Amino acid sequence: MTHSARDSWGSRAGFVLAAAGSAVGLGNLWKFPYITWNNDGGAFVVVYLLAVVFIGLPLMMSEILVGRSTQLSPVPAFAKLGGRLWSGVGWLGVASGAVIQSYYMVIAGWSLSSFVQCLGWTFKGYSLPPDGAFDAFLSNGPLQIGLTLIFTLLTAFIVYRGIGGGIENATKVLMPALLIILLYLVFTTLTMEGRNQALAEIFIPDFSELGKEGFLEAMGQAFFSLSLGLGAMVAYGSYMGKKESIFKSALWVVVLDTVVALLCCIAMFTIIFSVPGLENRVSGSTIGMLFITLPELFYTEMPGGFLLGPLFFVLVAFAALTSTISLGEVTTSLLIDRKGWSRVRATLVTTSVVFVGSILAALSLGANGLLSSFTVFEGKAGVLSTLDHLAANWMLPTGGFLITLFVGWKLGRKFCLEELGLEKPNPAFTVWLWIVRIVAPAAVLILLINVFMGKDFS
Ligand code: TRP
Repeated sequence: MTHSARDSWGSRAGFVLAAAGSAVGLGNLWKFPYITWNNDGGAFVVVYLLAVVFIGLPLMMSEILVGRSTQLSPVPAFAKLGGRLWSGVGWLGVASGAVIQSYYMVIAGWSLSSFVQCLGWTFKGYSLPPDGAFDAFLSNGPLQIGLTLIFTLLTAFIVYRGIGGGIENATKVLMPALLIILLYLVFTTLTMEGRNQALAEIFIPDFSELGKEGFLEAMGQAFFSLSLGLGAMVAYGSYMGKKESIFKSALWVVVLDTVVALLCCIAMFTIIFSVPGLENRVSGSTIGMLFITLPELFYTEMPGGFLLGPLFFVLVAFAALTSTISLGEVTTSLLIDRKGWSRVRATLVTTSVVFVGSILAALSLGANGLLSSFTVFEGKAGVLSTLDHLAANWMLPTGGFLITLFVGWKLGRKFCLEELGLEKPNPAFTVWLWIVRIVAPAAVLILLINVFMGKDFS
């Protein structure tokens, strides 16, 4: 397919915003704070940041490069540059995308119910939810499926309309709005007494607290949060103009994503350490941290919070939507590019397949039952947690490992130089190339092998 036949971004800001829209999502708002909490902060955050810098950024550039040079979606892109065997990387990505999408929709649905709940509090006054309220919400199967379905349909509608004007324009307004509210959140929490404890928990590392599973989760989270390892950035890069700088665009996305994750974490930890009794309410279901902590702030501490509460959860839903769109785009564009299907047909098929997975995940949140006790990975009971662990910590790193090898060795130096718009190698390029060739794939491989073999580092 030629460039002119494809939609393309209106501007560099267009690509950065859309890619940041894909990256910034539940990974930052929902997942990062709660797994940082579960892993006791500090050391986990350090490993996370190292993974972002040494694996995330170079890999993001690699994915964009593959997409932009081929102007194709992941499977055909890898096939074109590397032949049939390498197109397997694209297929692995499509599988990971479908897995992530299926449970992501469930969590995204929670933002809708929090929005409605906040509206209620805004109009009728805030009342402290009783202990165990969140667990009861999780166990309500029909409600979980309903919310998931609403979110699935929203995503399908936008994916079906195609990339371009709509998403780009909405993102331009809503992403900055999210950032502004987050800054205000953090600003407010910094006046609360739990502030120092929260900052110490997040920023003072204690490596005796982090086992190899924690390393794996920190690395997996970097992939997940930056939308890497399955070709989403290949797909988005394929719509990027030849004149734009891949490095600058990637850097912007990485910085934005990381700042948003850290801000969220600071806000939520501070609230937990400041409000008496909250730690208990959260610790029973840390998975609900985003939805349990913030109302406390909006409705008891924050000037104007009664307006910002509902607005914030609309923005959470929007951030989730710009991420589900990018996941949907990977699977849908495959069917379009490969099978020549129409967009409607491709969207319908992918949406239906994913929704089956979503139903299983949505029903796995209750206290007991087959779906919620089902365990593959130790400590990750239930379909939803299993899918999350499988995709984020195993499938994405494996995909990322293969993509870096592909770009570093198969495409090689000359190809990359040209795509990055350089005449001859400069030091930054050389550093990047060797990270992509050796450092990033070795780091991923060593960690995966260690965890797989059950060895501890010490
Ligand atoms: N990065 C998104 C988040 O943090 C999730 C996501 C969207 C994603 N597209 C992806 C993760 C592609 C991996 C690959 O919420």
